[in-house]
Amino acid sequence: MLAKDIRRKYLEFFKEKGHAILPSAPVIPENDPTVLFTTAGMHPLVPFLLGQLHPLGKRLANAQKCIRTDDIDEVGDETHLTFFEMMGNWSLGDYFKKEAIEWSFEFLTSKKWLGIPVGKLAVSAFKGDGDAPQDSEAAETWKKLGIPDHKIVFLPKKNNWWGPAGQSGPCGPDTEMFYWVGKGKPTVESNPGNDEKNWVEIWNDVFMQYNKSMEGKFEPLKQKNVDTGMGLERVAAVMQGVQSIYETDLFTPILEKIATLTSIPYSDKKDSYRIIADHIRAATFMAADGVLPSNVDQGYVMRRLIRRAIRHGKALNINEDFTAIIAKKVIHIFSEAYPEVARYEEKILEAFRAEEERFRKTLGHGLVEFEKLVPTITTGKINGIDAFHLYDTYGFPIEMTMELAKEKNLTVDKAGFEAAFLEHQAKSRAGAEQKFKGGLQDHSEETTKLHTATHLLHAALRKILGPHATQKGSNITAERLRFDFGNPDKLTPEQLKQVEQFVNDAIKADAKVICETMTPDEARASGAMGLFDAKYGDKVKVYTIEGFSKEICGGPHVEHTGQLKSFKILKEEASSAGVRRIKAVVGK
Ligand code: ALA
Repeated sequence: MLAKDIRRKYLEFFKEKGHAILPSAPVIPENDPTVLFTTAGMHPLVPFLLGQLHPLGKRLANAQKCIRTDDIDEVGDETHLTFFEMMGNWSLGDYFKKEAIEWSFEFLTSKKWLGIPVGKLAVSAFKGDGDAPQDSEAAETWKKLGIPDHKIVFLPKKNNWWGPAGQSGPCGPDTEMFYWVGKGKPTVESNPGNDEKNWVEIWNDVFMQYNKSMEGKFEPLKQKNVDTGMGLERVAAVMQGVQSIYETDLFTPILEKIATLTSIPYSDKKDSYRIIADHIRAATFMAADGVLPSNVDQGYVMRRLIRRAIRHGKALNINEDFTAIIAKKVIHIFSEAYPEVARYEEKILEAFRAEEERFRKTLGHGLVEFEKLVPTITTGKINGIDAFHLYDTYGFPIEMTMELAKEKNLTVDKAGFEAAFLEHQAKSRAGAEQKFKGGLQDHSEETTKLHTATHLLHAALRKILGPHATQKGSNITAERLRFDFGNPDKLTPEQLKQVEQFVNDAIKADAKVICETMTPDEARASGAMGLFDAKYGDKVKVYTIEGFSKEICGGPHVEHTGQLKSFKILKEEASSAGVRRIKAVVGK
């Protein structure tokens, strides 16, 4: 069964059960500045899981584009991906456990749908702890459907609890379905709790009845929801009887295309083939949703993916530009399911071409430089200054240098790299400050207000223009703020009006500005915007403007946005290629 048929059948099945079918939300969260990517189908639905009424009703289903980068270094083996599709169905305070489980079972096993033999399935359910009781109801429902006792295992929160997607939000116990990939038939002793490598999780039904508060308490939600997620790539592997998701029809056309560009066969360098296929898929979907490669936030992740793919292309002796060729294949595969990839085809391909051209100029020289460096190392560790040189002169993301080092059994002094980065930043900042005489930061009331206005402007631009509109530079005097950001075109009068309106609405809302101190890793995990590159010391300040923005920043900032009184854009103009500049003031 082809992946597109699984996708279609899933949506058809839930439509028959009274669900409205939603289009996929973008891979960049639209209403949540605290996370970089949409990581699950429930993510865009959080307000509705918390009780807001959804215009399409209480039963929803879709195929959602998701990106998870936690396992990026694992990509290349049989199972890991950064981009994947999640099929999901939701009940917003409508049906609950019994129906959710019965329908999952019917879709998986009925001959009319997937027709998976019951004997190949096993399930897990929540074991219970101080926060919530054991989920015997889920287990009883499975038993009634014909799953034998020995294939139902109770596991703790680590395994059978899902959410929240961020620090706080809706969550609950779940029941997961597993498919037997072992040899022969599963023994009576084998279950997903004790034999993980032979049971692959294919679907997760979450019973979202709690809200985890910021203080870490689990409070009952107003409504009992269902949130499910089925990994399309894994189910495709099951239905196509292949060992790896990379052998499904979602990937084989991409791998075949790569094979036409190299004389090294797939079987000799599976990891490079897979890394290229996965990373270009993910970057294609980012580009379709408006991300461009850059040094911050989503743009940095995209840059890292494309550059790593190019590096692995080189490992396959591909010496011509190839990422756009592969992206074109990806677009072809997905143009029906996700029309935006076809709609923005030219923009997407251009993003790949430009990034590849930029990186290819320096990659070859950088790799030669790296090879020269290796024999000079006596400590087993590449020092921070050399790693920074590879970054600054040859555009090697630090993660790439670390990967290259690992292949030579070396490590990289990451702290040293961060220190070198910081020193470089300080130097160029000092240079810039001299250039803009009088531009040194002061802590007067006027500049403080303009610092906060800058964060709101940044959030407004990303909201109205798209996630590519990230900060490229900023300069504040007591009179005005000046902000440079990525955008290919001049802003229309309508866009300028919307940006101004967004900031003025935030001022009217009199939102609280909160400052927290944390490590750069904690800041990133909390979803704060800021440079992904290591320009920070041990601790950073994170400023949250409640409901509007969260950024790593040194401050100073006002306590309430109301203090800004009003916001007005004076001028919008070109700064450099692909970078626009806004000058603006706040009320006196
Ligand atoms: N939100 C659940 C998951 O991602 C369904 O597994």
